[in-house]
Amino acid sequence: MRLSVNIDHFATLREARRAAEPEPALVALLAEQAGASGITAHMRSDRRHIKERDLRIIRETIKTKLTLEMAATEDMKKVALEIKPDTVCLVPERPEELTTTGGLDVIAQRKPMAAYLKEIEKEKIRVSIFVDPNLKQIEACGAIGVRLIEIHTGIYADLKPGKAQDKALSDVVKAAEFGHTLGIEVTAGHGLDYHNVRPIVAIPQITELSIGFSIVARSALVGISQAVREMVELLK
Ligand code: PXP
Repeated sequence: MRLSVNIDHFATLREARRAAEPEPALVALLAEQAGASGITAHMRSDRRHIKERDLRIIRETIKTKLTLEMAATEDMKKVALEIKPDTVCLVPERPEELTTTGGLDVIAQRKPMAAYLKEIEKEKIRVSIFVDPNLKQIEACGAIGVRLIEIHTGIYADLKPGKAQDKALSDVVKAAEFGHTLGIEVTAGHGLDYHNVRPIVAIPQITELSIGFSIVARSALVGISQAVREMVELLK
């Protein structure tokens, strides 16, 4: 199963100080060197973390695949057509949210969504739709010609082990199986960490996972000892 590393929160860290580091493009290159099959960046409409310059540098430097997560707006379409990521993943966006809170409602916006898809796909950019593990939504994706979906794993990931989590996992399994039977490539992501990822990895229809926050958080922990040792050396 492929891993696409979402680097947004390295940019969040940079923006906490409006500083020049950590440089998201350098993070992307290191993630590739460590074995990532792709890099994902979500440029939000308010540009709160990833910005156009990040996308431009990452696009020019990485050797794997760039997935641009974005809202289906005119502004973002212009950015996508200029940057030309390998894949665009369309997500819903609410300005006040801390992170994406659910999949796109494709049923409610079949026609505009189908037109939006076509405009991006004609530039040879693959389009993925971030969708809840809901068979009706996935059916609507198939009906408007979507060939790639990312199943929202956040509902499963936010639950503690137990019956409710088992049910949420079984919804993801059914969604992946259903998407696959419609001939749609199925990926998944959101909220996955070093504990809850295993059962998702076991779903054979899922080809790729998009994981961000837990990797960023863990990199701070596994990197702290070396970072302190280097500063202590400088202070000697
Ligand atoms: N997939 C989508 C569509 C997302 O919006 C996000 C968060 O930006 C992720 C995956 C990654 O989620 P997390 O940071 O919780 O791993």
